Amino acid sequence: MELTIRPRRLRGNEILRKMVRETRVDRSALIYPLFVEEGENIKEEIHAMPGQYRFSIDRLDEELESLQKSGVSSVLLFGIPKNKDELGSSAYAEDGIVQQAVRHIKESGAPLYIITDVCMCEYTSHGHCGMLCDGVVDNDGTLTLLQKTALSHVQAGADMVAPSDMMDGRIGAIRLILDENGYSMTPIMSYAVKYASSFYGPFREAAGSAPAFGDRKGYQMDFHNRREGLKEALLDVEEGADILMVKPAMSYLDLVREIKDATTLPLAAYSVSGEYAMVKAAAERGFIDEKKIVCEMAASAFRAGADLYISYFAKELAQYIQAGDIG
Ligand code: PBG
Repeated sequence: MELTIRPRRLRGNEILRKMVRETRVDRSALIYPLFVEEGENIKEEIHAMPGQYRFSIDRLDEELESLQKSGVSSVLLFGIPKNKDELGSSAYAEDGIVQQAVRHIKESGAPLYIITDVCMCEYTSHGHCGMLCDGVVDNDGTLTLLQKTALSHVQAGADMVAPSDMMDGRIGAIRLILDENGYSMTPIMSYAVKYASSFYGPFREAAGSAPAFGDRKGYQMDFHNRREGLKEALLDVEEGADILMVKPAMSYLDLVREIKDATTLPLAAYSVSGEYAMVKAAAERGFIDEKKIVCEMAASAFRAGADLYISYFAKELAQYIQAGDIG
């Protein structure tokens, strides 16, 4: 056979395969989502997310240590408050759970970069991501609450804020309030391309944030749409986002590539709770090889164009990278 071009030539040896590898993965690109809950002596496993816990602040240090040991240096903080009300007031309380956790982590001296999720759904009694007006989430009224929340996180010491509510104009509104208060150097990571997804199921159980009525389709995007995702991303670039995010990750890698090609901002992909739960459940039954699947999922997100990867497997991934299982 006279074959000049033989793609297999570059696949013949492990050293060579690694040499010509197109996607390289680094621990510095990993972000670990962490749930903090108001109360004492809490380390409660999340039912549909084996291995993931909700921690009260007095139990947080063990988790901070395990994070540092694994080599993951950034966290995305979610809060679970004791009290919820119509306006989600504990989201922007000075002694709110996220604000306290941020202060605690900073005071502990742990060299962690702290990103906070900015949203109302964990704090509202109705579970929606904003305030209601006649049974509908009121966009512009919610912006004020999001501004207050973001500002209070940053005042507590957060290094970056990540609004996940999907209200129109939130990036501009948050940028404005941060700038007005002397935080013009604090970056915003926008959950710009966030779909109304059933992959968030386990998270809502974890955060007790399932909407009490209706769904989130009035603000999160319809998963049939691609151009709408691009529109959201470009709007957030204009409003001053520093980093964009696509969420979920695994079923939305087309959007990751699309946004990567259309913008110049760093791009994050969020492998969400449902992705984690599916892997865990299948691995527990022996149907898949957890480690190999986790590596393949992460590599595919980076291959699609993600610069950052937010994952509940971040600690394991850091170890796999260290061991050369991926990278
Ligand atoms: C808050 C928020 C959600 C997630 C991140 N921020 C839930 C939702 O939008 O319903 C989901 C994260 C995950 O599933 O891992 N709005």
